[in-house]
Amino acid sequence: MAQVRFHDTNEYISSAEEVVTFLNSQEIIYENWGVDRLDPKHRDNYSPTDEEKQEILDTFKAEIDEISKRRGYLTADIIVLSDKIPNLDELLTKFKGEHHHTDDECRFCVDGHGIFAIKGKDGRYFDVELSPGDLISVPPNYRHYFTLMDDRKIKAIRLFVTPAGWEAIY
Ligand SMILES: [Fe+2]
Repeated sequence: MAQVRFHDTNEYISSAEEVVTFLNSQEIIYENWGVDRLDPKHRDNYSPTDEEKQEILDTFKAEIDEISKRRGYLTADIIVLSDKIPNLDELLTKFKGEHHHTDDECRFCVDGHGIFAIKGKDGRYFDVELSPGDLISVPPNYRHYFTLMDDRKIKAIRLFVTPAGWEAIY
């Protein structure tokens, strides 16, 4: 279950209900699909083959189809970040640059953790710390950046309308 941390006070929102209420108030989509139905062979595998990636996508097909219909997403794929990637630090430096997109940025965390740091409607910055089973969709034009947590790894499903709408505007 995701947690929210405010940058200015370092305060956390940890109760599931309060996290959902807060993110809804920010018009950020948050869902908890869970990962219980995922075949254990996929857990903590940070080098999935194309076939394994497809199996993960197939596992969550009903949820992906439902949110895609609702939000107009046309493509789903899997992104993996871990220390197995030789230029991980370079990528993280890039991801830490604040930016926005013209479409939603939608991610479902399968393994590991990730942080979306978001500038809220009132200008206040907060982190949304994602755990396995969490889905977030950052709406268009919300300034944000992404980083990893202490485990330095994530495997996530990306959902998007078009690659163009998902380009970062710094
Ligand atoms: Fe982004």
